[in-house]
Amino acid sequence: MRKYKIFAIICSLTLFLTITFTNNSTNIAQAKIEDPELTELRAIEQKLAPKAARQNMIPPIKKKKMVAWLKAGLYKELFTAEPTIHGSTGPHGGNVRTFYNPILTENLRAGKKTWDVGAAMVKELYLSSTNQVSGYAVMIKVDEESGADGSGWIYFESFSGSADNAFYGKGVQLCANCHRGGVDFLLATFRP
Ligand code: HEC
Repeated sequence: MRKYKIFAIICSLTLFLTITFTNNSTNIAQAKIEDPELTELRAIEQKLAPKAARQNMIPPIKKKKMVAWLKAGLYKELFTAEPTIHGSTGPHGGNVRTFYNPILTENLRAGKKTWDVGAAMVKELYLSSTNQVSGYAVMIKVDEESGADGSGWIYFESFSGSADNAFYGKGVQLCANCHRGGVDFLLATFRP
């Protein structure tokens, strides 16, 4: 009699668990129609849109759009360029030239030590050349606070200038670990 009771309990437990987990997995499947990362990127885009008083003031934050924008050289329109191409003192592969967007430029001119949301830098990577851009490194501040872990920034770097095999994401630790040593994550010493 006792054995049957235990058997019955196991049966109802199995049934209960099956129903619960089957339901859960359909719920998860339904909730995952949208890639959470894309949703986050869209929210950031919406946050930055009113900040960009003019087109080409802030780099596009989605990787492929960003690469197309970089290759078209659109950062040159409004950004402030370092006066010269020079050797990088960081692991940025040789010769570099950094550009600051108008938000960062204004913050620097105002003597600030932390940057507004939308502050951005584009760095041309020349590798061993002095006249041919091979790749780019980009940082865009997307949260009010940079955060000790640098999660308030979107990072991008590609030595070949391609969206494939690029370092890309929000709060990329590899980049943040070094850049947190700068003035609100800015390491270049050029001041406009
Ligand atoms: C070990 C240190 C180090 C790491 C790691 C690093 N950087 Fe840098 N980065 C520098 C230094 C130093 C500069 C200053 C300019 C120079 O000398 O190249 C710089 C400059 C930059 C700039 C121009 C703005 C600024 O802060 O001066 C960008 C953009 C940039 N890095 C992006 C990145 C990205 C994206 C990554 C990760 C894929 C990264 N960096 C990883 C050291 C680092």
